[in-house]
Amino acid sequence: MSRAKPAPSPGADATAILDALAVPVLVVGEGDCPLYVNAAAEQFLSSSAAYLRRHSLEEFLPEDSPLMGAIEQVRRGGRTVTAYGVELGSHRLPTRPVDIQAAPFGESGDVLLTIQERTIALAMDRRLSNRAAARTVSGLAAVLAHEIKNPLAGIKGAAQLLGKTVGEADEPLAALITEEADRITGLVERMERFGEVKPYARTGVNIHAVLERVKQIGAASFASEIEFLEDYDPSLPPVLGHHDELVQLFLNLTKNAADAMDGWIGGKITFGTSFQSGMKLSVPGSMTGAGLPIEVTVTDNGPGIPEDLLPIIFDPFVTSKRKGQGLGLALVAKIVGEHGGVVECSSASGCTRFRVMLPLAVEGANENNNKDLSDGG
Ligand SMILES: Nc1ncnc2c1ncn2[C@@H]1O[C@H](COP(=O)(O)OP(=O)(O)O)[C@@H](O)[C@H]1O
Ligand SMILES: [Mg+2]
Repeated sequence: MSRAKPAPSPGADATAILDALAVPVLVVGEGDCPLYVNAAAEQFLSSSAAYLRRHSLEEFLPEDSPLMGAIEQVRRGGRTVTAYGVELGSHRLPTRPVDIQAAPFGESGDVLLTIQERTIALAMDRRLSNRAAARTVSGLAAVLAHEIKNPLAGIKGAAQLLGKTVGEADEPLAALITEEADRITGLVERMERFGEVKPYARTGVNIHAVLERVKQIGAASFASEIEFLEDYDPSLPPVLGHHDELVQLFLNLTKNAADAMDGWIGGKITFGTSFQSGMKLSVPGSMTGAGLPIEVTVTDNGPGIPEDLLPIIFDPFVTSKRKGQGLGLALVAKIVGEHGGVVECSSASGCTRFRVMLPLAVEGANENNNKDLSDGG
């Protein structure tokens, strides 16, 4: 699409393509009047293109709507703004969870908008808040917890004893076992409360330290044959998060990547970090959008996710593995949700990427989440 003025309306072929798209696309001009709307946008706004062109978007959406906010932000900042998981609705339109992308278009302050139905992660979160699903998971977790916690206590005790007798070189390994046993115990306890949303203390966490730990665990166990690569932004500021939860999150993604390449030669997992200043997420019910500038990606060069699984990948009990439980990604979605973040997945043969967007730790910001998971029941 040409960025030159004065033709916000695309040519005839492009119009046919845009009208065939299921995604609403609009170009908004002066006074927030749409200059162009595709067929999906007409449907989304329940009005004809001719009508829309004569009316400001403000007649359809309240002034404090995240869509209007995104347009305003693009005009002020001159760059693309993405708002994930915002609720769009008004007295005229049904409320729907969507992702919005707003980009500068042309030279005279026009804005190109695309609106996507919300990604699977939020759907997952909603499904999890659904009682039946939560009960299923917590019921299973209660059984597992009983079977796991006792043996774990034994493993930890044995590792502590070993730590005292092994040579200096192996001490870190014994310590790793003890720490991991603690982490699993913590996880099992959280699994028992899978269905509940419990805020826990979040602090500034160095995401590179988290990824280093994940790599260390992977290399010592399930990913010993796999090459780890890093594509880091070394100046990345700390994430607002919970260290152990984040280790769990990226461990689950890494484990899946390694599983997908089990028995392969040349399997690679790349951890990437970057700062995306345009990323925004508005929590439903609140008008202020929290930034999600920290992007962490886990990419593998494995065979990819089966196409039929892709839309339901974050659902509990979805697995393609003979001994899989299908809980890894459900937990990923849950942890990301508890961090107020977003997770997305794209997959093709030779390149499967999970993209996690997380909030920035600003000094003094603990978002009144001072309650630790371990307290209370
Ligand atoms: N990186 C990946 N490459 C290929 N398939 C994947 C990848 N990550 C997840 N999957 C698919 O998603 C399914 C669900 O993953 P998960 O929820 O962790 O459960 P489990 O690992 O127990 O099967 C896996 O069984 C697999 O089919
Ligand atoms: Mg898994």
